Amino acid sequence: MIRMARMIKIFDTTLRDGEQAPGYSMNLQEKLEMARQLERLGVDIIEAGFPVASPDDFEAVREIAGRVEHATVAGLCRAVKKDIDRTWEAVREARHPRIHIVLATSDLHLEYKLNATRAQVLATAEEMVAYAKTLCEDVEFSAEDAMRSDPAYLAEVFTAVIRAGATTVSVPDTVGYAVPEEITAMFRYLRAHVPGIEKVCLSVHCHNDLGLAVANSLAAVEAGAGQVECTVNGIGERAGNAALEAVVMAIATRKDKLDAETAIKTVEISSASKLLSTITGVAVPPNQPIVGQNAFAHEAGIHQHGMMKNPLTYQILSPESVGIRRQSSMVLGKHSGRHAFEEYLTELGYTLAPDRMNEAFERFKLLADRKKTITDRDIDALMRTRALEFPETYELLTFVVNSGSNISATACVKVRRGEEILERVAFGEGPVDAAFKAIDKIVKLGITLVSFDIHAVTEGEDALGQVTVKLQFPDGEVVTGRGLTPDIFESSIKAYLAAINKYLAEKPEEALGGASWRSGKS
Ligand code: KIV
Ligand code: ZN
Repeated sequence: MIRMARMIKIFDTTLRDGEQAPGYSMNLQEKLEMARQLERLGVDIIEAGFPVASPDDFEAVREIAGRVEHATVAGLCRAVKKDIDRTWEAVREARHPRIHIVLATSDLHLEYKLNATRAQVLATAEEMVAYAKTLCEDVEFSAEDAMRSDPAYLAEVFTAVIRAGATTVSVPDTVGYAVPEEITAMFRYLRAHVPGIEKVCLSVHCHNDLGLAVANSLAAVEAGAGQVECTVNGIGERAGNAALEAVVMAIATRKDKLDAETAIKTVEISSASKLLSTITGVAVPPNQPIVGQNAFAHEAGIHQHGMMKNPLTYQILSPESVGIRRQSSMVLGKHSGRHAFEEYLTELGYTLAPDRMNEAFERFKLLADRKKTITDRDIDALMRTRALEFPETYELLTFVVNSGSNISATACVKVRRGEEILERVAFGEGPVDAAFKAIDKIVKLGITLVSFDIHAVTEGEDALGQVTVKLQFPDGEVVTGRGLTPDIFESSIKAYLAAINKYLAEKPEEALGGASWRSGKS
C-alpha cells in the first residue's frame, strides 16, 4: 500500500506579521496585488491583517476577503468581544473566513502585560473562542509566547479552547527563543496531553531572532504540526518570521525525511518574492536561501566543473522549480514587432488582456528606443513596476540636471498638472538632490526623503536603472515610489514623482486644497 505524505497547510502572514514590521507597510492597492500573488502561489490561508489596528487595516482585510477566491482569509484579533466583532465584520464576506484570536500564556506576559492570573486567562480564552464560534465556523487560537509558557498550563488552555470550538491551535515562538529540540518536545507533549488535539489543526509560528525560525518550523512539522505560519522573504517583526520559500522548499526537497508536502505552486515563489520586494522597496539579501540573487550562482571553478558534469553535485534544487527562468533564448530590440513581443511575454508567463497588451507594447517600444537589447529581466521589471503605478497628478515633461566638480549642482524640472505646466529650478548637494528640491518647490508638500536606493536591473552600459525612494509626508505617512528607465536621473525623478502621485491618489483632499496647488513663482 502506498502511504501518502502528510499535507501541511501554509498560513501566510506577510500581510499581517510581515506588514507590521518597520519599512514594510503597504497601501490597499499593494496589499491587493500581493494577495493576488499569494493566491497564485497557492497558500492555504492568507492572514490579511489586524482589522482593529486602524480603519485602513480594516478596509484592506475587507477588500481582500471579498476578492480572494480559494484561500481562507484570516483576520487577527485580541481576545476581546468588540475586537472579535470587528474582525468578523472584516472577514465575513470571504468564501472561507477565519477569526484568529491571540492571547498570551507565558507567566511573563501574564504578569507584566496582561496583569491577569492563569485562571483568568484560561477563562477568557475559552469564553472568547466560544463567542467567535457563534460568528464563524473557522476559529484559530494562538497562545502568544507559547514557547516560554509552562507546557502543562498551555495544554490546559488548548484543551479549553478546543472544547469551545477552536479548529486550529497555534504555538508561537513569539520572541524566537526556542531551539529545535524544545519545539519537538513541546509538540510531542501537547499531542500527548491535550484531549481532542487530533481533531484540530496544530500550528506553528516561529520568529527568527536566533536565525532558527525555519529549522524550528520544520522540527514542528516532524513532531506533528499540520500548519506552518510564515511570510514571503521571511519578513516580520524584528528579525522576521520563518521564510515561506525556505519552509516550502525544505519540505519539498526533504520529503524523504519529513514525509510531508504542501500545496504550494513552487514556480510562483520567485515572482512572489520579487513582487514583495518591488512593493516595499526592500531588497532581498543576495545570500537569502531560495530567492537571493546568489542562491543558484556557482562561482568556484571546481563547483562549475562539477555542475557541468552533473548539476546534482552542487545543486539540491533547480532554479526552475522556484520559477527562476534561464535567460530566454529570445532577445528583443527596437525592430521586434508586436507578434514577437507577444510571444516573448507568453514565454515569460504573462497573459494579458488585449488593452493591457497594447499598453505593454507601447511601453516596450519606448524602452526599445533607448535600450539596444531587451531581456526577460527588463520585461519583468517593466511589468512589475507598471502593476504598481498610480494616477499621475504630476506628469514629468522634461528635466535638465547640471553638475560638475567645481560648480553647484542645479536642476530644472518641468511637469504637467491637469492643464497647468509648472517649472522650477533648484540648487542641490548633487544633481538628484537638486531635482528633488525643484520638485519640492512645485508640489510644496513638506516632504522628507527617508531612503533612496538604486540598482541596475541588468548588466551592460544601457542597463535599466531602478530607483526606489521612500518619502515621508507631514502627516507621518511614508510612501514608496519607483522609477525605471535607462537614465538614473530620470528614474530618480520618476520615483520621487511616483511616491507623490501615490500619496495624492490616497489623499485627494491634499490635492484639492492648500498652497501646494498654487502655481505662482516661489
Ligand atoms: O508572534 C506572535 O506571537 C504572533 C501572534 C499574534 C500570533 O504574531
Ligand atoms: Zn508573530
